[in-house]
Amino acid sequence: MHYRLNAKLYMDLARKEVADFVGADVDNLFLVPNATTALNCVVKSYPFAKGDAILDTTWTYGSVYLLCEDLTTRIRPDVERVKLELTFPCSGPEEIIKKYEETFQKHPNIKMAVIDHITSPSSVVLPIKELVELCHRHGALAVIDGAHSVGQIPLNLTELGADFFTSNLHKWCYCPRGSALLYCAPQHTSWLHPTNTSWHLGGSLDMEFFDLGTRDHVPFYCARNAIQFYKALGGMEKIVGYTTGLAEQAKQLFEKDLGLTHLDIPASMEAPNMKMLKLPPFRDFPYCPENTWKLMEALFGNTKIFGILTPVEGAFYFRYSVQIYNDMDDIRAAADVIKAFMRKHAA
Ligand SMILES: Cc1ncc(COP(=O)(O)O)c(C=O)c1O
Repeated sequence: MHYRLNAKLYMDLARKEVADFVGADVDNLFLVPNATTALNCVVKSYPFAKGDAILDTTWTYGSVYLLCEDLTTRIRPDVERVKLELTFPCSGPEEIIKKYEETFQKHPNIKMAVIDHITSPSSVVLPIKELVELCHRHGALAVIDGAHSVGQIPLNLTELGADFFTSNLHKWCYCPRGSALLYCAPQHTSWLHPTNTSWHLGGSLDMEFFDLGTRDHVPFYCARNAIQFYKALGGMEKIVGYTTGLAEQAKQLFEKDLGLTHLDIPASMEAPNMKMLKLPPFRDFPYCPENTWKLMEALFGNTKIFGILTPVEGAFYFRYSVQIYNDMDDIRAAADVIKAFMRKHAA
């Protein structure tokens, strides 16, 4: 078995498995190392005209937020950036849709909207089906950042109708790190390119994405086995059925035992496997975004627990995630760590 002779074959087997899993045609699906790379390819390939605008939000993931900034300051300063202000509390999907509608009306030059499916790290599920339709009504491309979606939320990309969709297979699909999908709707394959130019410039898009210079292809090949493993476990119904139940039980325990409250969003917008809890004020870590990392180190540094902390509207929040290998013992261990810390550092 010669790697060089078989590399493309294994890449295509993996692409096919992933494409079938997310309801896409294999010709429209490419494997890339991560969501950030996928979005760089899309945003930097698009032939923006002078005066066009790109839309992102205050909830956009950091690296993607910076991508929009880099595009509109260094790479294409003639392109405008429109940043939609999304805030908490959020009453529901209608509020989000209304804000997008108002933004499109105010900025008819928006040609591309980068929209999170599940925001990170606040774990809010956005109404992407409605937002895709809204983008199209206003003549903008819908680029969905579904970094946390595949494996956590059912997907049918053909039905969704977004122009682009990316999702990390290394988050909820049991793939090794460095494996993500990039879906490109058929009408855009003529202008999309990987960010680095390599051997197959001018060739087919799938060859361009396949051969980007020497790199590790194993995380891509593993996508096929990872999805087979996912299905063998019982698929989404079994996996997310279990994790949703555990995440909910955990929420009740954190609320009852620790008195923590959940982020103020309707249950329908909560991600199945991830939840956000508001921490009380801490004496030695007054609220300011710069203290987030210090608090995270102090809280989890010498423990076997980890959760992402985020500053949200005047308070630190703790985001926990559950996988099939977790159970209530893990949740109790996390609760014990947080409880001890709260006792010691209460403001
Ligand atoms: C919404 C969102 N976008 C993009 C990313 C970036 O993913 P990666 O670091 O794999 O590029 C993440 C990672 O958590 C995310 O949650």
